[in-house]
Amino acid sequence: MSTREHWGSRFGFIMAAAGSAVGLGNIWRFPYITGENGGGAFLVIYLGIVIGFGLSLMMAEMLVGRSAQRNPVGAFRQLGGKGWPLVGFLGVLTGFVILSFYIVVAGWTLSYIGQMARGLLHSRYPAVLGSAFEGFVADPWRPLAYAAVFMVLVAWVVTGGISRGIERANRWLMPILFLLLLVLVTRALTLPGAAQGMAFYLTPDWSKVDGGTFFAAISQVFFSFSIGMGTMLTYGSYLSLRENLPRSALTVGALDCLAAFLSGLMVIPAVFAFGFSPSAGPGLTFITLPAVFAALPGGDLFGMLFFTLLAIAALTSAVSILEPLVSYVIDEHGLPRRVVVAGASVVCFLLAVPASLSFGPWSEVTVFGKTWFDLMDFLANNLMLPVGGLLTALFVGWVWGRPALTALSNEHQLHQPWAVAWLWILRVVAPVAITWILITNLS
Ligand code: PHE
Repeated sequence: MSTREHWGSRFGFIMAAAGSAVGLGNIWRFPYITGENGGGAFLVIYLGIVIGFGLSLMMAEMLVGRSAQRNPVGAFRQLGGKGWPLVGFLGVLTGFVILSFYIVVAGWTLSYIGQMARGLLHSRYPAVLGSAFEGFVADPWRPLAYAAVFMVLVAWVVTGGISRGIERANRWLMPILFLLLLVLVTRALTLPGAAQGMAFYLTPDWSKVDGGTFFAAISQVFFSFSIGMGTMLTYGSYLSLRENLPRSALTVGALDCLAAFLSGLMVIPAVFAFGFSPSAGPGLTFITLPAVFAALPGGDLFGMLFFTLLAIAALTSAVSILEPLVSYVIDEHGLPRRVVVAGASVVCFLLAVPASLSFGPWSEVTVFGKTWFDLMDFLANNLMLPVGGLLTALFVGWVWGRPALTALSNEHQLHQPWAVAWLWILRVVAPVAITWILITNLS
């Protein structure tokens, strides 16, 4: 265990964790979910959940990993014994489920960089772009080829290990990502007509809020914060025991919220300025935005930048979805990293095949009325991550309990009253809120 690799620097860890958090969830999902759920009202609820227990859960996961210095399965076994490693297994399984659809969407972004560069998406009509998009995703081969390329990129980074692979990639890519985001936000906000979109984005419309809004918000927080499946736990396990966790978790959470907020600022006003609807669903990014770009001077360039941004965000996140299962097999079965990454990547790609085909040849094949892609998305976001988060909160709050508090606060990292509040959030607030939302929405 003394040979466990560690992050090279605090900055490196923060960039890696922020790279995990900031992903398709922020740039592709957040704007359209916000658009569908009443704009500003959704923002308020989202932020409430983040402060209510999202940050505490992120900190809890990092703490479990840092204390155990192990993968999710090993960490729960070491600190909890008995049945708790199952929570780790659930996380590893969730990783496969998420990657199976994540790399499909990530593959689309790669293809869109090229299509933008070649001016193929130069149309102002969402109907035209809609059929271009649908034609592309329905193709049995092309999207899969892009998903394969993306998976190879992910495998390449993860094979490099912690400091020379994951950390190095994030140290470069994350600053570039924020820079691109700022360029695009500036462009969006200086469009004539952007004000109306700003008003929609920032003024809460409470009439759109119901139980479903809370469900959407809670799933979005879990997905976006990368919590509930052991990603933050695994990244925490590469930290030395001296690291100031509360401050790191706060920084990562803040960067993630900032990226989501800026993505909304980039997408929603632009969509309004050109008279489209912000509630256009998953197609917002791939259908409506190219129409916006086509109407802009230099639009193809901005479009290319946008899809590059999306691809970078997806890459640094996908890396973090793969790492927990890689670290599990390395820790517990002692196989070389290279071999584990290669094997896991092949499995992920095979799982992505039905997800990709569900937009084309297999679009009629449904389980519980959902295509394979939708089913995986639903299972992971609305079920597996919240349940994983719930169990982690219960574990840290009640099973680990007081020692967790000591692990956190005896290094004077969090003042006593805050540390106690944190523990009670894990004991009561998070479990009650998650259970309530799951029960009211799934029954
Ligand atoms: N947070 C990532 C995103 O927003 C997705 C993710 C989920 C990463 C779970 C790791 C674990 O795209």
